[in-house]
Amino acid sequence: MCGIVARIGESDDATDELLVGLDNLEYRGYDSAGIAVQNGCDVDVRKRAGDIDDLRNALSTDSPSGSIGIGHTRWSTHGPPTDANAHPHTDCSGRIAIVHNGIIENNGELRRTLRREGHVFESDTDTEVVPHLIESAVADGAPPMEAFRTAIDRIDGSYAVAAVIGGREGVYAARNDSPLVIGSGDSTQYLASDVPAFLEFTDRVTYLEDGDVVRVTPTGFTVTDGHAQSVHRRTETVDWDPQDTGKGGYDHYMLKEINEQPIALGRSVRGRVDSLAEEVELDGFPPGTFDGIERVHLVAMGTSYHAAMYTESLLARRGVPARAFMASEYAMAPPPEENGTLVLAISQSGETADTIAAVRAARAERTTVVTNVVGSSLTRECDDTLLVRAGPEIGVAATKSFSSQVATLSVLCERIRRDVVGTPSADAESFLSALTELPDHVQQVVDGSSAEEIADSFVDSDAYFFIGRGPGHAVALEGALKFKEITYEHAEGFTAAELKHGPLALVTENTPVFSVFNGRDGDTETLGNVKEIRARGGPVVAVASEDAPDLEGDVDHVLPVPATHPDLVGVLANVQLQLVAYHAAKHRGRSIDKPRNLAKSVTV
Ligand code: G6P
Repeated sequence: MCGIVARIGESDDATDELLVGLDNLEYRGYDSAGIAVQNGCDVDVRKRAGDIDDLRNALSTDSPSGSIGIGHTRWSTHGPPTDANAHPHTDCSGRIAIVHNGIIENNGELRRTLRREGHVFESDTDTEVVPHLIESAVADGAPPMEAFRTAIDRIDGSYAVAAVIGGREGVYAARNDSPLVIGSGDSTQYLASDVPAFLEFTDRVTYLEDGDVVRVTPTGFTVTDGHAQSVHRRTETVDWDPQDTGKGGYDHYMLKEINEQPIALGRSVRGRVDSLAEEVELDGFPPGTFDGIERVHLVAMGTSYHAAMYTESLLARRGVPARAFMASEYAMAPPPEENGTLVLAISQSGETADTIAAVRAARAERTTVVTNVVGSSLTRECDDTLLVRAGPEIGVAATKSFSSQVATLSVLCERIRRDVVGTPSADAESFLSALTELPDHVQQVVDGSSAEEIADSFVDSDAYFFIGRGPGHAVALEGALKFKEITYEHAEGFTAAELKHGPLALVTENTPVFSVFNGRDGDTETLGNVKEIRARGGPVVAVASEDAPDLEGDVDHVLPVPATHPDLVGVLANVQLQLVAYHAAKHRGRSIDKPRNLAKSVTV
């Protein structure tokens, strides 16, 4: 999705720092980029379709000089990725420049009105109405801040907008349903869609809220809310390390993030479980938090939806009625109000538009978000927040956030079980103990995986299937999602039992099937399904716990994972499948960190 960055300082480094910010926002997905730098009463706009490096090259011989500027990565929604449609967009005078993330729903009507007033448009974008609206308000005599607010008041839809106005110190910005966060240094301020944009300059962040309008100058900022009243927004320090946003010597962020999983999982679990005492200690979720809860609705999208499905299985095994919903569907038709419903929203970014819509539509007794991002939109929408602590995830394909979500949710499941059922689950000690061992087990998988050879041996296949049961079904779907996202090959996940009700018709010697064995009941049945695949010539790769039944002679390859509690085998199996997808994509020379057409954060 589009990314916004602004730099408001005193030294003339705006261009350099804006380009750093754009590099750090690349992961959101984009097809064009641009900057606007204030230069006295003028504003110097440079933008183009293509990569940030294309923009950088174009600026190498003639770079705008100034201390204040805005930048943007565009992910096309209105109009194709062309130089003209790239942001920033300007008014007729070229002295007001705007960057925008979101969708302006009444753009057609505003465009017609502005055209009648004589404004001339140069792009197909919805965004372009905004600088003209500001221009119009300035022409009516409004001072800049008032003109900016007048323009914002006239637009409907979702937006994070930032503007520079020639001759006026600072950046004007507003948000509604799209993220915007201020970063505060000593004499330089930043504004961005997401913290990694400016993390190497400051870790002090202030999240804006819907309806906020802000003016940012080098020394600080003033915020007014939707009623134009001055408001205070809390400044927090993020504990992310700037190193975490670099590639750290790996070829790709995705591989780095796969390798970071032991550390991320350690952070998710550490201090939260005491396996000997069979206790869970979640800050903000003391015993009794979920008294009165009778059922859990899990809402999420993409990889987070697979974490929701995984959690549905864990809760069901703990006697807690639970159901995972695709957040977009839940938002359209939320189940009727019933006392005792807990809605658990799961979102790495905390900014996914469909998940926010589901929470808003929910008729729940309580809403809780499980997210990776402090202060993100869902943390404000929900009654309470549980952080997964995975650290920043830059690769579009989610990896460490999935493992950390499942680990964090595993702890939460135990808390919920105790409050809802009244006792710890029967195998609480072994489950909690396995959770504390998860980082080491993941490390063993990463260190010893033969995923690369296996991926290379199936490079010419027609399609790739993934099967599993219970949590293994969620892992099969996630394995297929990862594979299709970054290899662009046809990949699908199924429950193992579903195969013979249709998908088996697709199985040939050119369709490898990755089969997840949990090390528990159900593995015997999955082995039966594997035999059916092999009888039709389909090659089978088992991703199996050491506790799984003997697979000798029944499968073509095994990607082993250490024996652990059966509820957690899926996390380890998923790491093997992440590596398979990664190496298959690398072999094909794909754009692994920024797959075509996809965005990290889907905020519209
Ligand atoms: C996009 C990303 C996925 C992610 C999904 C949900 O589709 O490409 O990797 O799983 O959004 O994002 P969230 O931030 O809510 O987990």
